[in-house]
Amino acid sequence: MEYLDSDSVRLSEDDSAVIIIDQTLLPLRTEYKYLRTAEEIFEAIKNLRVRGAPAIGICAGYGMFILSRGIISEDIKTFTEELKNIGKYLCSARPTAVNLPAAVKRMISAAERNKDLSVNELREILKITAENIHKEDIEMCRKISEYGLSLVKSGDGILTHCNAGPLATSRYGTGLGTLFLGKERGYEFHVYADETRPLLQGARLTAYELDKAGIDVTLVCDNMAASLMRSGKIQAVFVGCDRVAANGDTANKIGTSGAAIIAKHYGVPFYVFCPSTTIDFSCGSGGEIPIEFRDGGEIRTMFFKEPVAPDVKCYNPSFDVTDSELITAIVTEKGICRPPYKENLEKLFGN
Ligand code: MRU
Repeated sequence: MEYLDSDSVRLSEDDSAVIIIDQTLLPLRTEYKYLRTAEEIFEAIKNLRVRGAPAIGICAGYGMFILSRGIISEDIKTFTEELKNIGKYLCSARPTAVNLPAAVKRMISAAERNKDLSVNELREILKITAENIHKEDIEMCRKISEYGLSLVKSGDGILTHCNAGPLATSRYGTGLGTLFLGKERGYEFHVYADETRPLLQGARLTAYELDKAGIDVTLVCDNMAASLMRSGKIQAVFVGCDRVAANGDTANKIGTSGAAIIAKHYGVPFYVFCPSTTIDFSCGSGGEIPIEFRDGGEIRTMFFKEPVAPDVKCYNPSFDVTDSELITAIVTEKGICRPPYKENLEKLFGN
C-alpha cells in the first residue's frame, strides 16, 4: 500500500523544518506545511494540523532538533537550559497525550547525558534521538498490528473511534494498523467509523485512510454505536489512546468511554492499541490524566456555514477516560496485555 511508505511527519532534507501533512485540510486537500519556528510548531500541534499521540511526539522530537540549531550559545549549560525552555513551550500546546512530554523528556535527557560534547556534536545527537523516536514508532506500530491480527478473523465488523491510523502515527498506525496489515494478507474487514464529533477525525481521516487503502468502510454518527452493536454487526471495537495510567485506565478521544460502555453491555470485545510511549506509570489512575478542554466554537460553528446552536455555553472536553474494567485488552508492541492491568502492565513494561 503506497501511502504506508510515506510519513505524516518528517524532517526536511536540509534540517531546517519539520514537514507535516496539514490534517485540518484533509480529505479535500493534501497540503504539506513546513514548520520552522517554535510558534509554528506550537500552533500546528494546538490546532491539530498535526495530531494523534505518537505523531505529536515525533513532531516535538524533530521540532526540538531544528530549534536547537537556532540556539546560539556555545556554552552547553546555557544551550541545555534553552532547549528545556523550548520543550516546556511545546508541551504546553496540548496536555493529554503523554507522547508529547515523553519525546521532549527524551530529547532533554539526550542533551544532559552528553554534556561533555560540543554544542555542534550535541545537535547531531539530538537529530539521531529524534530520528530514533520516529523509527521506533514505525517498528512499534508494525508489531502492534501483528498482535492485533491475532484477535480477529476475516469477515469481522470493527467499530473505530477517532483516528489512530498512519496520519496519527507512523506508517501502519495503532488502532487501524491491524486493518491495514489484514488487508495486505487478504482479510476482509467491515469497518464502521464513528465520525467523532466535534472535530470529525473519524469522518475526515479514518474514513479517508481506510477507503484509500481499499478497506470496506461505512461512516456512522457517534450515537449509532449501540444500534450497530445490538444488530450484531460489530465483532470488536478498535481504538488508539493518548495516555494509559498504571492501572489500565485509558484516555482517548471524547466518546471512547461511551463506546466501551456499550460494548460491555453487548458483550463486544473492546481493544485499546498503543505503543509503550503512551503508557504513563507516573499516573496511578485515569483521574490523574490531564484532560484537554477546547473552544466551544468547535461544537457550535466549526464545519457549519452558520452556527447551528444559539450562543450558549459549550462543554467541550477533547478526551475522556475509559475505566480499565471496560477494556478487554491493551495491545502493545510487547504483547497483548489483559487484566489485571496494574500487575500485567508492570510485568510487560516495568523496570
Ligand atoms: O485530538 P486528537 O485528534 O489528537 O485525538 C487523537 C486520538 O484520540 C487518538 O485516538 C490517539 O491520539 C491515538 S493516535 C494513534
